[in-house]
Amino acid sequence: MVLDIVYEQISPVFQTIRYRLLLSYLAVLTVILGLFVVAVRTTFAHSSKQDLTNRVAVLAKVASGGLDLEGENLEVDSSDVTLNAGQAVQWFDLEGKLVDQRGDDPLILPIDPNQSVQIQRLPYAAEGVTLPVREEERNDQLIGYVRASESLEALHKTLWRLDRGLGGGIILALLLSGVSGIWLTRQAMQPIETSFRRLQQFTADASHELRNPLMAIESNAAVALKYPEGIRTSDAAKFRAIASATTQMTALTEDLLMLARSDQMPTPIQHRVNLSLLLENLVQLYGAEAEIKQIALKAEILPDLEVLGDAVQLTHLFTNLLSNALRHTPDQGAVGLQTAREGSQIWVNLQDTGVGLAPDQLAHIFDRFWRADRVRSPGSGFGLGLAIAQGIAQNHGGLITVTSQLAVGSCFTVRLPADSEARAMVKRGLG
Ligand SMILES: Nc1ncnc2c1ncn2[C@@H]1O[C@H](COP(=O)(O)OP(=O)(O)OP(=O)(O)O)[C@@H](O)[C@H]1O
Ligand SMILES: [Mg+2]
Repeated sequence: MVLDIVYEQISPVFQTIRYRLLLSYLAVLTVILGLFVVAVRTTFAHSSKQDLTNRVAVLAKVASGGLDLEGENLEVDSSDVTLNAGQAVQWFDLEGKLVDQRGDDPLILPIDPNQSVQIQRLPYAAEGVTLPVREEERNDQLIGYVRASESLEALHKTLWRLDRGLGGGIILALLLSGVSGIWLTRQAMQPIETSFRRLQQFTADASHELRNPLMAIESNAAVALKYPEGIRTSDAAKFRAIASATTQMTALTEDLLMLARSDQMPTPIQHRVNLSLLLENLVQLYGAEAEIKQIALKAEILPDLEVLGDAVQLTHLFTNLLSNALRHTPDQGAVGLQTAREGSQIWVNLQDTGVGLAPDQLAHIFDRFWRADRVRSPGSGFGLGLAIAQGIAQNHGGLITVTSQLAVGSCFTVRLPADSEARAMVKRGLG
């Protein structure tokens, strides 16, 4: 029943994948829409501008017929010229002096016979086309120039409306795509999430079911070894091997069960845990092991550090780190544990002078079943401890980070939200 409710929650990993999928989908769509809009805008602006230039050129051609040389004087007959809104025509003599003009807003630029198309930006935007005027009756003699122009205001207004339309279209398309993207990513991820949950459930069930037969084997082997009179000496060694293998398997199933449960339950049971006391007890517990290896185990623990969480899980977290540090530190080395409080965060540093890790190994250190030494030596673990520890830290709204140098040592830093901060995170459902 409880698991059913838990199953309804989305695991943070899947939530991150969903967000990433959605963001990638929206980013690709934005780029495609952006390119499409730029192409539409450029094509439309170019062809509108071309139309305007052609229109003005036709007007200039018509107006050129109205300039005549009567004796030495230029005369203008503008009866053939029909002007639309924003259009103007100017006639010039050979020196570029204005002879006549029609229309409301003619260009105020000086005429330039070498420039057939002129663009004016101020005080009002307009485009003009200049044509030379020749007198057919006088052997096509050049008698002056005509310049027709049209205001660009209407074109700019149209483009502005187009920009607004396209911009609004993009925003609407992105909003709709965002909403449909949420639905799509949910649909796409659902089968994966379901099979992942089944796998988690299988791991949890299998580890749980394995506990009882393992316990039975372990206790039977222990009983057999307790009364060795009834068994042959050579069989006693076999029973010891069975007992040792069973202990290892029990530890593995416990770890797997813990991992499966921490995956399923993102928020641990919330109790106020005195972290200072928890750490002091652990250091005391591991003092004997350190002493055997002549490792200087030093702890500087601030008093009254409190976090919200599960004391059993937190003990598991720090036990994993401390046992790793002692396991990977050679005799006569040093292991140091320090705590610090920075704002709403509690930091626990565990430093050792052990074998250390190379940068490429550091990238895998929190992976499940990853171990630096591939050859399984007696007493080596399964490579699950740090994965479990990281899972526990994350479920408490914290994180474990590590820095290390080969043959120098490693430093694991656990960051956990202090009590008040943890409470807020649990409320926000970020556990
Ligand atoms: N303090 C450390 N110094 C050097 N290497 C370390 C240290 N802690 C962990 N490692 C490396 O990281 C690997 C993974 O550690 P982890 O605790 O996950 O697994 P484990 O200790 O091998 O087994 P388990 O914890 O499951 O019993 C270790 O096998 C070891 O190679
Ligand atoms: Mg370990």
